[in-house]
Amino acid sequence: MCTNSMSLLCHILAAAFVHIFIDSGNWILAKNINFHNVRLPVDPTPFPSSFKCFTCDNVVDNYNCNRWAEDKWCPQNTEYCLTVHHFTSHGRSTSVTKKCATREECHFVGCRHHKDTSHTECISCCEGMICNVEIPTNHTNAIFAVVHARRTSGSNRKAVNTLLLALISVIFVL
Ligand SMILES: *[C@@H]1O[C@H](CO)[C@@H](O)[C@H](O)[C@H]1NC(C)=O
Repeated sequence: MCTNSMSLLCHILAAAFVHIFIDSGNWILAKNINFHNVRLPVDPTPFPSSFKCFTCDNVVDNYNCNRWAEDKWCPQNTEYCLTVHHFTSHGRSTSVTKKCATREECHFVGCRHHKDTSHTECISCCEGMICNVEIPTNHTNAIFAVVHARRTSGSNRKAVNTLLLALISVIFVL
């Protein structure tokens, strides 16, 4: 495949190919972790472990929140995506608010029924890139969902990829 005169260039190209292959593999994995068909960011991350949330302020329902939500990076002091959902006793949404949130703001997850207006407010928090797709509707989903294994699994995958890259490079050199 590689002639002697071109072998260095050839190896470099091969290595680049493997990199692209592994990177696209990561994209697919990341896509699997995210819910639904969320757009993946093409702009560079502003800082390590940066993420985005669906962001909208007091919109009429979830569809209109996600449809027109701002697509921007969360500030560095935030760690989670928070969703506030107000709905009537018939389950009809009256207000959806989504934003980036600190750990402190996420202490208020759960559902509260307001007797005076007969409306219910549910708040949920989640961790990860654009994780706040759905809205909380009851105590089952009005929770603080944290990805415990994120850092470990991320570094494991990196180690596996590095090993794979080293192995393939050795094969090419031989
Ligand atoms: C909570 O809401 C979800 C989604 O609307 C529904 O699938 C689930 O059955 C509900 N759980 C309870 C305990 O009502």
